[in-house]
Amino acid sequence: MWLKTLATSPLSAITVVVLFIALLLRFYIKFDTPQRLFSAEELALFNGTDEGLPILLGILGSVFDVTKGKSHYGSGGGYNHFAGRDASRAFVSGNFTGDGLTDSLRGLSSTEVKSIVEWRDFYYKTYKYVGKLVGRYYDSHGNPTKYLKGVEAKAARGAQLLEKQKIEEAKQPACNSRWSQDEGGEVWCDVGYPRLVQRPLEIALTGKMSKRCACFEDSQLGQAGLELYEGCDYYATRCKVQS
Ligand SMILES: *[C@@H]1O[C@H](CO)[C@@H](O)[C@H](O)[C@H]1NC(C)=O
Ligand SMILES: *[C@@H]1O[C@H](CO)[C@@H](O)[C@H](O)[C@H]1NC(C)=O
Repeated sequence: MWLKTLATSPLSAITVVVLFIALLLRFYIKFDTPQRLFSAEELALFNGTDEGLPILLGILGSVFDVTKGKSHYGSGGGYNHFAGRDASRAFVSGNFTGDGLTDSLRGLSSTEVKSIVEWRDFYYKTYKYVGKLVGRYYDSHGNPTKYLKGVEAKAARGAQLLEKQKIEEAKQPACNSRWSQDEGGEVWCDVGYPRLVQRPLEIALTGKMSKRCACFEDSQLGQAGLELYEGCDYYATRCKVQS
């Protein structure tokens, strides 16, 4: 019926064309507008409390819609403390209380900063990017601040450091290891003798990866910085790990 009207009425045809263009424009605008700027107060409204609002999360000043992860980010979810704010630091500190929920990365190591940048990549890949938080990382025009550039540079240094460490560690084979509830931990070497070695200081800041077990040959055992496992003989190839 309306097709017939369309064919006979140029005005209707124009209306349809205009509507079509409007629709296209709408999609275009949706996908391509410069993203929205949020203040911290605005972002706080999207904390998952109001079921009618999307759930938003900020990291390094980028804001993502994490509504599809409602079971985690919504009220009562395990990641709810990330909703409605930028708690970048908590991604590596694991401190979800009070001042721990901050976007300040002051004092973190370059590898920790790198890990936060990787979290931001994760959100880009997994969730919808919706805009920027005006504050530490973006100015009121939505331009990256000095602080953000500093963070990116530090993350790049962290990546270099890890790369360097990987090359270093490849030179000295790692120990085999296993752990069981009954017998506890054990390390051993197929060639050489197990020793604990300190990782570079910068990485040690996390407190998690500060030492590793590597296998050294007899001629290397005099090197500085090698630590014998407690209760293990100098020439033992297998050591119990006391925890
Ligand atoms: C969480 O969001 C609700 C509304 O969406 C708001 O009323 C409340 O103040 C927010 N909570 C915080 C801590 O900002
Ligand atoms: C979390 O951070 C706050 C503020 O820096 C601090 O007072 C608190 O002790 C921290 N909690 C843990 C578990 O590290």
